[in-house]
Amino acid sequence: SLRLGVLTGGGDCPGLNALIRGLVKRGTHEFGHEFVGIENGYMGLVEPDLTHPLTEEDTRGILPKGGTILGTSNKANPFSYPFLENGHWVERDVSDQVLRRCEELKLDGLVAIGGDGTLSIGHRLAAKGLNVVGCPKTIDNDLSGTDQTFGFDTARLIVTEALDRLHSTAEAHDRVMVVEIMGRHAGFLTLESGIAGGADVILIPEIPYRVESIVEKLRRRATRRRSFSIIAISEGAYPEGGALAVLDSAEAIPGRGVVRLGGSGKVCADLLAKHVDAEIRVTVLGHLQRGGSPSAADRVLATRYGCKVLDLVRDGQWNHMVALRAGEIVAVPLSESRKERRVDPAGELVRFAKSMGISFGD
Ligand code: F6P
Repeated sequence: SLRLGVLTGGGDCPGLNALIRGLVKRGTHEFGHEFVGIENGYMGLVEPDLTHPLTEEDTRGILPKGGTILGTSNKANPFSYPFLENGHWVERDVSDQVLRRCEELKLDGLVAIGGDGTLSIGHRLAAKGLNVVGCPKTIDNDLSGTDQTFGFDTARLIVTEALDRLHSTAEAHDRVMVVEIMGRHAGFLTLESGIAGGADVILIPEIPYRVESIVEKLRRRATRRRSFSIIAISEGAYPEGGALAVLDSAEAIPGRGVVRLGGSGKVCADLLAKHVDAEIRVTVLGHLQRGGSPSAADRVLATRYGCKVLDLVRDGQWNHMVALRAGEIVAVPLSESRKERRVDPAGELVRFAKSMGISFGD
């Protein structure tokens, strides 16, 4: 039996606790492993007093809970760790200190659960000799190493429900509702929930939009006596040849993570207001999309990931991550986690949506 450290890094997403539970339960029952919970992502391997035994008892009742019982952080990269010195933030490489800490904790391996940032840090630590197994998670579904990340299904349900709810109030007031949806530079969440929630216009980062094209769509709807419209827009969508992607205006500040400025929904609404008579309202769904209980599908996927980690550990398949490929949970090299995935503008889903009359503003 082995001693394994477990951390969750980057933004949280629904299903993290289900994964931790699957890992600890199978690891304890089948292999007799011991687990060490590391709090707040990699921060827990840098700062003192952020580790504790993680037992089956600790996982009792956490399956339906959102967030993560281990806490998380997206500003604790050991290769550029932020320190406040004389009132200024400076960054230092503390990766050697992290390796020493893992030795002190007598860890045989580290299970790193996170998105591209957390996994690529795991990959770099593995290159320095640490035994790492990764688990991909994000609501954005933008990791190419896996067919689907857990968290995505729940977020898609939340956005779909929001679009359903916005329909009735939009219709009552004859309004244009612009709904800003997360996903960073990828449009998967907007595309799929836009289709599921019956959006009239879907704007994603992979297809820069033209305002005239959206106006034309709204006009066509008006002639068919549809006096309201729902526009689902990714936070990273932007007008053709126009302003920078909204995320590009976000500023990384050491010690404080990413500070977000502006929003694509407002940019789009302001552009539309010059051409459209109808009242326009913007809804930014924000972190509602990441909070709360995971869907059944995400619980199952996360549990499968957590259990599969132990196969990789048993087989000494370090420096790999678990991934969903063609319905199977398999091991893929951690280096795969760096490759980001984007919506294919010529792909089936976009083509079918267009064939149904949904506008992508192109
Ligand atoms: O990657 C998940 C995600 O929710 C993105 O969709 C979004 O752009 C980002 O994280 C928000 O980050 P934060 O929680 O730091 O505001």
